[in-house]
Amino acid sequence: MEIIKWSKDLESGIEAFDGEHKVLIKTINQIYTLMREGNKDEAKKILVDTVITYADKHFKHEEEVMERYNYPKEKLDGHKKMHNFFVKYLVETLLPEIERGDDKKFNDALNFIVGWLIMHIKNMDVNGYGKWFKEKKIEIPDKMIEI
Ligand SMILES: [Fe+2]
Ligand SMILES: [Fe+2]
Repeated sequence: MEIIKWSKDLESGIEAFDGEHKVLIKTINQIYTLMREGNKDEAKKILVDTVITYADKHFKHEEEVMERYNYPKEKLDGHKKMHNFFVKYLVETLLPEIERGDDKKFNDALNFIVGWLIMHIKNMDVNGYGKWFKEKKIEIPDKMIEI
């Protein structure tokens, strides 16, 4: 079962970033499946090793590209703040809760991650740099970061 489905409104039009978003979504779906199968340890491992590490790399990649093409400073700063908040919240708040808590805690944490990610991709990626790069007719030659 998929907890998040890829849809057109998640598409930023930048191939590398859309590819990276798909990796994140796929990995989160994988974690849900592991949880449903009762494999919490493996689910946790993938959350830490893949989602958090990969999300961090993806965020840095976005930031580097926005800087490279002079994305407006104010927007860039706001965008960076959101990335930083998410990583910090995951590492400092959600992970310790997952460590201490039961399966319900883990599922709550996953729901938060999914909600945040979808909201961020739509509001700040697609409607932020996605729109801006399109308006400026800037094409991003980057390849996606492999997992
Ligand atoms: Fe993103
Ligand atoms: Fe972003």
